[in-house]
Amino acid sequence: MPGKVYAVANQKGGVGKTTTAVNLAACLAEAGERALVVDLDPQANATSGLGERANGTSSYDLLDGVPLEELAAPTRFHNLWLVPSKPELAGVAVELARREDGERFLAESLAGAGDGYSFVFLDCPPSLGPLTVNALAAADRVLVPVQAEYYALEGLSQLIRSLDLVRARLNPQLELAGVLLTMVDGRTKLSADVVAEVRKHFGEVVFQTAVPRSVPGRGTELRHARDQLRPALGRRRGLLEGGDGACQPRLNHSAAASAGAWKCSSAARAPRSS
Ligand SMILES: Nc1ncnc2c1ncn2[C@@H]1O[C@H](COP(=O)(O)OP(=O)(O)O)[C@@H](O)[C@H]1O
Ligand SMILES: [Mg+2]
Repeated sequence: MPGKVYAVANQKGGVGKTTTAVNLAACLAEAGERALVVDLDPQANATSGLGERANGTSSYDLLDGVPLEELAAPTRFHNLWLVPSKPELAGVAVELARREDGERFLAESLAGAGDGYSFVFLDCPPSLGPLTVNALAAADRVLVPVQAEYYALEGLSQLIRSLDLVRARLNPQLELAGVLLTMVDGRTKLSADVVAEVRKHFGEVVFQTAVPRSVPGRGTELRHARDQLRPALGRRRGLLEGGDGACQPRLNHSAAASAGAWKCSSAARAPRSS
């Protein structure tokens, strides 16, 4: 059975996409699952976060039709594999936009090739451009990290519209895995307000498990989310496979939309004192 392919996407930068992708993959690898991270961001943060560098080939070549098995390299973490990125990937976005079939290149490259992995995470760049569209076209599910800060809901309705478009045009099977609150600071009222607002508007698609803000330190990239995600994974075989209680991972957007869960309120955007 092919592995589950998760796109980790949000067109906002700095919301925890890379941290989530890297940590989930690392937790699963540690739990004995073969996990693959495909770094689709020219900034290559997942690559450096895993202590790697693109050594010649990269996700650029994956989009160019080079087979996955030639590109996925083992990392220093047991069971954890990586297709690295490098800055040249930025150029591919332009090429993809020019090609009529450019939105499906990744889906074609991954089709059947992910069989050797239980989980594949596609770490998306901070835009809804061709690289993210390729990831959404190739994924089984999309996981949306949302940072618990001002303007948390800003842009989310646009992301949801993009998911609808991708479903309609490219990948009808695409499911929303859920919205994951990240960098939650339990000490501030602002954080609590944003968490409440996101839960109010997105309801059961928001994972009950939220990732707290941790204090940066050496090796933090692999720890930020990990302490929080590991127990969630252990308890119920994952945020991902069975949901974490609050979130129904198979809930599709139309069900959520008819429940009114997708409306974003302007109230959530107004800065408040913490
Ligand atoms: N739970 C957390 N606590 C503290 N800092 C975090 C946490 N998650 C991510 N960060 C930091 O926030 C920044 C943005 O995270 P990142 O995963 O790179 O976001 P994105 O991939 O969405 O741009 C990084 O510097 C990262 O180290
Ligand atoms: Mg990133």
